[in-house]
Order: sequence, then structure tokens, then C-alpha cells
Amino acid sequence: MTQPRLAAVVVLAAGEGKRMRSVTPKVLHRIAGRCLLEHVLAAVAPLGADRQLVVVGHGREQVIAAIDGRAPGLLPIVQDRQGGTGHAVRVALQAVEGIRPDELVVVVPGDAPLLTGATLSALVAAHVHAAAAATVLTAEVVDPFGYGRVVREASGQVRAIVEQADADPATAAVREINTGVYVFTAGPLLAALTSLTTDNAQGEEYLTDVVGTLFARRQVVAAHPLDDAAEASGVNDRVQLAAAGGVLRDRIVAAAMRAGTTVVDPCATWIDADVTLEPDTTLLPNTFLHGRTRVASGAVVGPDCTLTDTVVGAGATVSRTTATGSVIGPDATVGPYTHLRPGTRIGRGVKLGAFVETKAAEIADDAKVPHLSYVGDAVIGPRSNIGCGTIFANYDGVAKHRTVIGADVKIGSDTVLVAPVHVGDGAYTGAGSVVTEDVLPGALAVRDGRQRTIEGWVQRRRPGTAAARAAAAADPPGGELDHTGSARVAIAGVSDGGHRT
Ligand code: UD1
Ligand code: CA
Repeated sequence: MTQPRLAAVVVLAAGEGKRMRSVTPKVLHRIAGRCLLEHVLAAVAPLGADRQLVVVGHGREQVIAAIDGRAPGLLPIVQDRQGGTGHAVRVALQAVEGIRPDELVVVVPGDAPLLTGATLSALVAAHVHAAAAATVLTAEVVDPFGYGRVVREASGQVRAIVEQADADPATAAVREINTGVYVFTAGPLLAALTSLTTDNAQGEEYLTDVVGTLFARRQVVAAHPLDDAAEASGVNDRVQLAAAGGVLRDRIVAAAMRAGTTVVDPCATWIDADVTLEPDTTLLPNTFLHGRTRVASGAVVGPDCTLTDTVVGAGATVSRTTATGSVIGPDATVGPYTHLRPGTRIGRGVKLGAFVETKAAEIADDAKVPHLSYVGDAVIGPRSNIGCGTIFANYDGVAKHRTVIGADVKIGSDTVLVAPVHVGDGAYTGAGSVVTEDVLPGALAVRDGRQRTIEGWVQRRRPGTAAARAAAAADPPGGELDHTGSARVAIAGVSDGGHRT
């Protein structure tokens, strides 16, 4: 059987979503890195419909801005007043031309982010197979309150959908509900839409009345029950938003594990829908991967990482790190307590250690920034070592400037590099230097403020203090210093089995 053309998917997204209590329209609230409407659009995309008509009303400017230009054939349709789901579909289909009677129209709510492309494809296939005028996606639920009930004939044909507000007790007891997802054949749908009334408890044009109309006109109305009723659940408040987010988290993490990612704690690992993970990656607890983050094989991310739009190279290790818009090279080591801001690109084998912040920094292969540094607007050449506490002073209070460090450079601890400045290949800076002028290759830059040592100062100026007593007792006072100092740090009751570095 050749499948009729799918003329349009109509996405209903004009409602306000009062229960969200938000200035943001409901369908723009986000889970797993996409707004609810984007999840729905992703589910309908594989259907390959000629048009995706998104019915907008409340907060239309925001909704239109969010979806504008996302896909060819995507067209926002403004519904000026929310006259009901039937009214919404009628307005949408009236806005386009050239839909033929034998073509198909799919209708989905904009607030059902758990719907899958597979379910929608199966629904369309069932519709075609039944040669139906309408096919309703239904679900058996324990508590049907609030939903439209599916009323069937003895033959199994659907006779009507009755809304909660209009249901008598016998109908209200039906546990098969309308999910709000349908496939229609365009001809019978368009004909039935013209005869909708507002003669019901809510005074709205119900799309669900199309079902009764088609049945009365002796057309085939089929029902396609969902295996997992949760898939059709809509989001009405922030409790349901979090619940849907949890379902997506479980789905995405399960798919990642099946594709070869070790996830140590699935409940404490959050991966956005557009993240890419290669096989043989490991995610440790409290890891959040956002946006278009990509992680290559052999990389270990976590614990406690938040990576947004960041690429992690093969074999890299990233722990307790926040990174945004950054590229981490293969076999690099980042963390703990490291902050990579946008424009950071680090090469193969680079090490960024504790309390290092980078921004717009290109750091070449095997370079090291091991501790307590700020690297902003900088280029660091291969194998260079940036000593503890180095600051790239990139901001003069008005403009930002760049610092360029060559290859195999040794920047001494606590150096301040005042940009714009260039340190040539193989150069050194002394500890505590403030570098304001370029350093030639192979040169040593030091500030020659020599150390002054004033002997006996403590006993003269701080008499009676613990320091003065310790100085007096030093053995020999004022003599040679014992550089190991080891005997001084015996801790009572503790034998020294610890680490040595
Ligand atoms: C609807 C169905 C009900 C079904 C339920 C599933 C009708 C009459 N009832 O009820 O059988 O069980 O969905 O969740 O269709 N919308 C518009 N324009 C409008 C009205 C609604 O775009 O004028 C949009 C809403 O934003 C929402 C969707 O259509 O995304 C459903 O509307 P809503 O009023 O929530 O329908 P329900 O009362 O839940
Ligand atoms: Ca309603």
C-alpha cells in the first residue's frame, strides 16, 4: 500500500499554560537542553511532512522567535483567540493552500515532550492500514480524570471522544483516554471542521468532536493504543516539567549506556538531547553535559562537571570543572576546580590544574598551567609551563589586550604578564615578576627589586612574642639553616605513612 502524502503536521501551542505561573510561554520551558516545543518538533521531523504548522497565540512573539527558521516548511500560524483545539486546527489549515483530500494531517500538542518519532510513525502506519478517516492515539490510564474519554462501539470502532466536563458517570469510568495526538485524512477532516459548534461545557470548538462527526458520517475512526501511557503526558505545571525532564534524562542516559558510555550514577548524570558521546567514555556522578557538547572515546568526565558546548578529546580527563564553549584536546587533564570560559582551546596533553580560569586562550600541546592562574586573551606555545599564581592581566580598564607566550617558555610563579606582551621561545621569567615589556627568545625577565634582610629585627621590634622566643632558641641562632625542616613536623601519635611529593 503506498502511503498518502503527509501534507501537514499541526502543532497546537497557542495556550497560555497558566499553571506554569510564568512570563515565559509554557512551550518554551526547557528540559534536556530544548524547549518543550523543540522536543515535539524533533519527534515530528522524521515524518517528513510538507509543512509544520505551529499554532501560536499566547506569547506568540516569543514562540515565533524561538522556532523561526528552524526547518523548511515550518510555519507559525497565529490564532487570535483561543477558541478551542478544533478552532486551532481549522485556522491552521485555512492558512495554507493546496492540501489534497487524500493527503494526511497529523495533529500533536506542543506540550508533550516525551512523544517519539517511532510512535508517530506507527500511528500513521496504523491509520493507513485501517484506511481510516481519523486515527486517535490513545492510552489506558489508572486515573483518567481530566482527559477526553474514548467511547468505542462493540466492534472496536471509535464512536466519540467525550471531554471530562461533558462526561456522564458511565463515560467518566472509561479508562482509555485521548492523548491529543491524531492522524486525519484531509478531506473528511476539513469537512468535519466546518460543522464544529461551541455547544459544550467549555464553550469551545472541540477537535474531539470531529471524531463523532466522522462516525456519524459512517467514516472509519480507528484508535491506536500506546504501550507506555507516559509517552503522551503533557506538561501543565513545573512538577510535570521536572517529571518529564527526569524521563528524558533516563532515556538519554540509557541510550548512552547502550551505545558504550559507562555512567556510574545514572540518576546524577544529566545529558542534553543534542550531546554526542563516543563509545568507551566514562561519566562520573554529578556531571551535566549541555548544548552541543561532544566527548570522544576514552575520555573520563566527572565527578562534578558542567560542560556546555564543549568538545572533550579522546583520552582526556576532566574533573570538577565548569567549561563553556571550549575545546579540550586529546589526553589533556583538566581540574579539579577549573573554569574554562568561551574561546578556550587546549591541545593534546595540556594540563590545567586547580583554580585555573581561562578565557579566549589557545594553549598548545603539552603546555601546563598547573595551579591558581588566570589566562585570558592569550596564546601559550607548546610545552611551556606557567608557574603557580600567574596572572595574564588582559584588561587595562578600557580595552582587552593579548599575551603571546612562545614554545618551551618557563613563566615563574606569581608572574603578572601585563598585556599586550610577548614572551619569546625558550624564555624565562623570575618568580614574582611583573612583565610589561616583550621578552626576547631565551632571555630571563626579572624585576630586580633585591631582597633586603634586616638581621635581629624580630627581637628588637617584636620582643616577647612567640616569634622572638623561637628566634632566640634557634639552633644555632642566626647560623646555618636546616633546609629539610623535617624533624619539626612530628605529629604526636601519628606515624608518617603518608604521601610524599
Ligand atoms: C485536549 C483534548 C482531550 C485530551 C487532552 C490530552 C480537546 C477538546 N480535548 O484536552 O480530549 O484528552 O487534550 O491532553 O481537544 N490549544 C490551542 N488553541 C486553542 C486551544 C488549545 O492551540 O484554542 C492548544 C493548547 O495550547 C494545548 C493543546 O491545544 O497545547 C490542548 O489544549 P487544552 O486546552 O490543553 O486541551 P485539554 O483540555 O487538555
Ligand atoms: Ca481545555
